[in-house]
Amino acid sequence: MPRLHINIDHVATLRQARREAFPDPIAWALAAEEAGAEGITCHLRKDRRHIQDADVVQLRAQVKTLLNLESSLDEEMLALAEKSGAEAFCLVPENREEVTTEGGLNVVGEAARLREAIPRLTSSGGLVSLFIDPDLKQIDMARELQAPFIELHTGEYAKATGAARQEALERLANATAHAKSIGLRVNAGHGLDYENTPPVASIPHIEELNIGFAIVARSVFVGVSRAIGEMQNLLDGTTASRA
Ligand code: PXP
Repeated sequence: MPRLHINIDHVATLRQARREAFPDPIAWALAAEEAGAEGITCHLRKDRRHIQDADVVQLRAQVKTLLNLESSLDEEMLALAEKSGAEAFCLVPENREEVTTEGGLNVVGEAARLREAIPRLTSSGGLVSLFIDPDLKQIDMARELQAPFIELHTGEYAKATGAARQEALERLANATAHAKSIGLRVNAGHGLDYENTPPVASIPHIEELNIGFAIVARSVFVGVSRAIGEMQNLLDGTTASRA
């Protein structure tokens, strides 16, 4: 069963909608930990649409489990990531117009920048993961660049229906098996919700799921504790090993 890591970006989205001090994403993250989350993830975007620089400082000071910071390859963002004190970094593509991260990082196309960024973040003390589509060429390049982790983009699977969903799930399973066989560790996330998460959580060797929007949205109705508990119960019902 993968560990449940919670992405808190959209608590900050709600706060930024009114530029108020509430709801406080740090308090929400601490409540998520209380409810059993094993890690907290946030994405400091260049346009600061949700998480702010001060949130990262506060999260670092207060998160007790593990802080995973998502960052683009932009120099300003990498410099902030480097000094953030996060235990984990996930390198993601970032495009100003997108509503959310749309596709995986093009590890093959960005190899030169990644060759510098991965050791840089590693020496700041965090484990680096590359957010990529379940594409074997991208996975092989992640290995060549010596990233310890990849995070498989589950967005295509999450959006698909019927036979296409089953095919997307098989691509995720094959990609995970391939990555594991060449020595990469595997996380997954994006677009996962209370309905589509169990099949992904059942794929052997996925260590961690990063889930945000669906849990934050559910918490509006039932509170943080129950929203996390319901997702944890779904994970507990799966038997896949993460070793
Ligand atoms: N993983 C990565 C790398 C992401 O960029 C995001 C979205 O910020 C997530 C996981 C979580 O996606 P969602 O909010 O759709 O659960």
